[in-house]
Amino acid sequence: MSVSQSAVHLVNHLDPDYLRQALEHDVRTGLASAPKWLPPKWFYDAAGSELFSQITRLPEYYPTRRELAILRREAVDIAARSGADTLVELGSGTSEKTVLLLDALSVTGTLRTYTPVDVDAVTLGDAAQRLTVRYPDLTVRAVCADFERHLALLPRRGRRMVAFLGGTIGNLDPAAREVFLKELRATLRPGDTFLLGADLVKDTGRLVAAYDDAAGVTAAFNRNVLRVVNRELDADFEPDAFEHVAIYDLRSDWIEMRLRATRAMDVRVDGLGLTVSFADGEEMRTEISAKFRPEGLRRELTAAGFTVLHHYTDPTEDFSLVLAGV
Ligand code: SAH
Ligand code: TRP
Repeated sequence: MSVSQSAVHLVNHLDPDYLRQALEHDVRTGLASAPKWLPPKWFYDAAGSELFSQITRLPEYYPTRRELAILRREAVDIAARSGADTLVELGSGTSEKTVLLLDALSVTGTLRTYTPVDVDAVTLGDAAQRLTVRYPDLTVRAVCADFERHLALLPRRGRRMVAFLGGTIGNLDPAAREVFLKELRATLRPGDTFLLGADLVKDTGRLVAAYDDAAGVTAAFNRNVLRVVNRELDADFEPDAFEHVAIYDLRSDWIEMRLRATRAMDVRVDGLGLTVSFADGEEMRTEISAKFRPEGLRRELTAAGFTVLHHYTDPTEDFSLVLAGV
C-alpha cells in the first residue's frame, strides 16, 4: 500500500494481516516458553512511542543525550566521510536526532532523500510530515516495516548511508544481531555506509538507573506491551499486577527487562484461545539492551563484512557511533 499526502510518501509493508500473524506467533511462542517472554517490537504502538520519547528526556537515561552530543560535534565529519545523497534510518521513531545528520548532509551539499523506517506507522508519519515542512527540498520516503524482516525491500537508489541510532542494535539478541548485520550488509553497495549507534559497557549502577528511573516512566513503557496484547489479542492482563524489573547481566553485558507477577494469576488471551498461569513472583522477559565494547563492535561488524571507517565517542566514553563501509 502506498499513500501520498502533501509530499510525504509512506510505504507500508506491515499490513494488518502481517502484524496480526506476527504478534500471534510471537505471543504464542513467548507465553509457552519457560521462562516466559514477550517480544520487544510490540512495545511501540503510538502510546509506547510517546513513553519512549519521555524516557529519552529522563535524567537517568543518558544514551540519547550522549549520542546527541557526538552528533553535534561530528555530524559534519560523518556526512563528509559518507558522501551520501540518501539517508536511510532504521527504527527512526521521532527522528529528533536525525536533523543533525540531515543538516550536515545539506551542508556537504549532497542530500536528496530521507527514508525513515519504523514499525510504528503513527510516529513515522508524524516525523515524515514534520521533516517535509522543515526541509522543503528533501524527498521523504517513509517506510513502515520490520527491520528484522524487510531490509531487502528498502529502496536502493542513490549513495546511501544507513543509520541505526539509539542503541537499538542492543535490543537484538546476539544471534539476531548477527543475522541483521549480515542481511543489512548484503543490501549495501560499494560507496554506501552504515552509521551505528551503540551504548558502551559502564558502571552497573548507571546502567540499571537508565532502565529503572525514579519517575517510573520505563516501568510504564515496559507494561505497555501488556496493553498492546490486551488490545490486539483480546487478553486480560492487569498491567498493575506486574512489577517492572531491570537487572544488569554482567556475563552477557546486557540489561534485561522483565515483568514480575505480584501474585499468582491466570491470564486469558482470547484471541489465541489460551489461558496462561503465572506463579506469584514469576518473571517474564520483555527486552534486553546489550552494551558493547569498542573492540567487540568492530569484531561483529567485520564478521558481517563491514569495514570500520571511523569510531566516534563522547568525552565520557558512554556511547559510540561507528561509521562503517562495505
Ligand atoms: N532512533 C530513535 C528511536 C529509538 S527507539 C532514537 O534513537 O531515539 C527504537 C525505535 O525502533 C522505535 O521507534 C521502534 O518503533 C523502532 N523499532 C523497534 N523494533 C523495530 C523493528 N523490528 N523494525 C522497525 N522498527 C523497529
Ligand atoms: N533502544 C533503547 C535502549 O535499549 C530502548 C529502550 C530504552 C527500552 N528503555 C527501554 C526498551 C525500556 C524497553 C524498556 O536503550
